Amino acid sequence: MAVWAVLAAAGKGERLGSDRPKAFARLGGRPLLAESLERLDGSDWIDQIVIAAPAEWEEPSILVAEEIVATKVHSTVTGGETRSESVRLALEAVPEDAAAVLVHDAARPLLPEDVIERVLTALGEDWDGAVPTLPLADTIKRVEGDRVVETLARDALVAVQTPQAFVADVLRAAFAGDLSDPTDCSSLVEARGGRVKAVPGDPRLLKVTDEEDLALVESWLEP
Ligand code: CTP
Ligand code: MG
Repeated sequence: MAVWAVLAAAGKGERLGSDRPKAFARLGGRPLLAESLERLDGSDWIDQIVIAAPAEWEEPSILVAEEIVATKVHSTVTGGETRSESVRLALEAVPEDAAAVLVHDAARPLLPEDVIERVLTALGEDWDGAVPTLPLADTIKRVEGDRVVETLARDALVAVQTPQAFVADVLRAAFAGDLSDPTDCSSLVEARGGRVKAVPGDPRLLKVTDEEDLALVESWLEP
């Protein structure tokens, strides 16, 4: 059973405000992309990797793969305007015989092997997909403008991270439809009635959005 990884790295990183795409921001002296790519490449669970790179940053992406001596990078494709477009374009490079696809954000550099294991193990238990989740610490309310209209039952809510794993055919079918407003890959699968398992995530999978996040993740890197 071949497991393919799609690494979504094609974003601009506007909120980080660097002079280059976020995947090439410096993290511990290397491009941010190197961290998640190295972890995917080193994972016992992953066979092949497709990188969705920002336009005009395809070559530098290949160089990052060479620098870390990655052996599983199958191809680098040019990403699209939105994250889901980038994932759709990367999926086109995943062959028909792939059994499972794991989609990960390059913006989450610290990718623990046990989270990869948890989401992929769920596929063997007959789920269509699996997502890493974290409990919410804060009370969550729905607002309209500045008026609080509802307090949601927190114990039924979780925050969702990547990597997200799916049966390859299920993910392909989900991406064949309308991509206009998905918040993640799983939401497309859920919308088609797919059964997605929530598994424990990891706080270290923090998504780097701004400078503060970058500094925090950097402080968590192994020396
Ligand atoms: N992504 C992508 N293609 C896009 C937009 C986003 O592959 N057109 C990827 C990013 O590279 C990132 C992940 O999706 O790994 C999550 O996106 P986000 O954190 O929003 O990153 P950016 O879009 O790069 O950041 P910003 O929104 O601040 O520009
Ligand atoms: Mg974005």
